[in-house]
Amino acid sequence: MRRRLPRPHELAPLIRFKQPVLRSRDRTLADSLTIEDLARAAKRRTPRMPFEYADGGADDEISLLRARLAFRDVVFHPSVLRDVSKLSTVRNVLGSPAALPFGIAPIGFTRLLHTAGELAGVSVAAEAGIPFALSTMGTASVEDVARTAQQTAPGARTWFQLYIWKDRDRSAEVIRRAAAAGMEALIVTVDVPVGGRRLRDVRNGMTVPPTLTPRAVLETIPHPAWWFDFLTTEPLAFAALDRSSGSIRELFESMFDASVTIDDLGWIRQQWSGPVVVKGIQSVEDALRVAATGVDAIVLSNHGGRQLDRAPTPLDLLPDVAEALRARQSTTEVWLDSGIRSGSDIVAALAMGARFTLIGRAYLYGLMAGGRLGAARSIEILRTEIERTMQLLGVADLDELEPKHASRLADRRPDSS
Ligand SMILES: Cc1cc2nc3c(=O)[nH]c(=O)nc-3n(C[C@H](O)[C@H](O)[C@H](O)COP(=O)(O)O)c2cc1C
Repeated sequence: MRRRLPRPHELAPLIRFKQPVLRSRDRTLADSLTIEDLARAAKRRTPRMPFEYADGGADDEISLLRARLAFRDVVFHPSVLRDVSKLSTVRNVLGSPAALPFGIAPIGFTRLLHTAGELAGVSVAAEAGIPFALSTMGTASVEDVARTAQQTAPGARTWFQLYIWKDRDRSAEVIRRAAAAGMEALIVTVDVPVGGRRLRDVRNGMTVPPTLTPRAVLETIPHPAWWFDFLTTEPLAFAALDRSSGSIRELFESMFDASVTIDDLGWIRQQWSGPVVVKGIQSVEDALRVAATGVDAIVLSNHGGRQLDRAPTPLDLLPDVAEALRARQSTTEVWLDSGIRSGSDIVAALAMGARFTLIGRAYLYGLMAGGRLGAARSIEILRTEIERTMQLLGVADLDELEPKHASRLADRRPDSS
């Protein structure tokens, strides 16, 4: 074989130097192609206690694991030779369009994960045209979140998540504030008569705000930027709480009311004139019972595996719940969360009967990996995955998705009858 030196004009077309991205955070975000990539970056950038607070689940984390496995079990059934050159990812939810079929789930203590917190979350959601839900345990005020949404994109949709707590007057007061701030819908979370046992938090001695124990000081060494941010920005404020110190367990116990029943939904209706969504439904029976009260939507959710361990996996329940409500001609929308880590997970949930989905950790990993830009990257990753999945499935509009487009591996086993 005769060798020769390449000539410069031959090499030029082969060279594709990327424009250098100078800051390492920006480079990490640009290199993150999946939510799992963002999760790895988040873990590197965040001290153990806050990372595990977000990443972990209850007890043996079986619910958490099963939620992921359920999505892995999905089999897509594409239709080929369809025109998918133009796509619509718009989904009507609670009577108005969302640009994408997911919203940001309510998250307590977001600023503990990254100081950019809820205000970053609501502004990237507003930019993307999707709704943002603020938790009762959120670390920004109802008013600031609503204002940031409108400043970012007039008409942006914000929802308020309520824990009905023991002191009904305080619940009523926070509902009034959410209405006055212009929040659109109230999400009532009903899977928390008591807090789940999050063993990682217990083992890490998690407190709010984080305390500088000798172990936390040691943790500073690999995460100086996180602590610098945390110590030099506004202290944590709470959407609806006065008490801001003590262990999470103490906080939960002082707040959750284990005596709440379905009759309390009637009380909520009297306080709130807008749409009501009930989050944390985990059986067909409860789905029917709660839908019969006339709520606007139910969320099949096991709280991302953070409450009852070994609770049913929402994706497993979805087809039966959707069918049961359809059979009764119910107008209550069925939403789903828990375990969503990709756009194709969202497309699968929609095909199996969900009107809408919520993402918790998929957004938090981006936020922890890179603040506002990281949260925006999460949404962008999910958007491109939704679009590509739709095209490969032969679906140009989300409303074309049907149960025939996705099944579960287990459904296809010969012995599954
Ligand atoms: C760190 C963290 C905090 C949460 N805080 C709340 C909360 O305050 N209120 C609530 O209704 N759900 C809360 N959730 C549950 C989410 O709203 C959502 O149901 C769950 O995250 C969905 O699962 P995923 O994280 O796998 O997407 C929290 C979840 C996480 C991960």
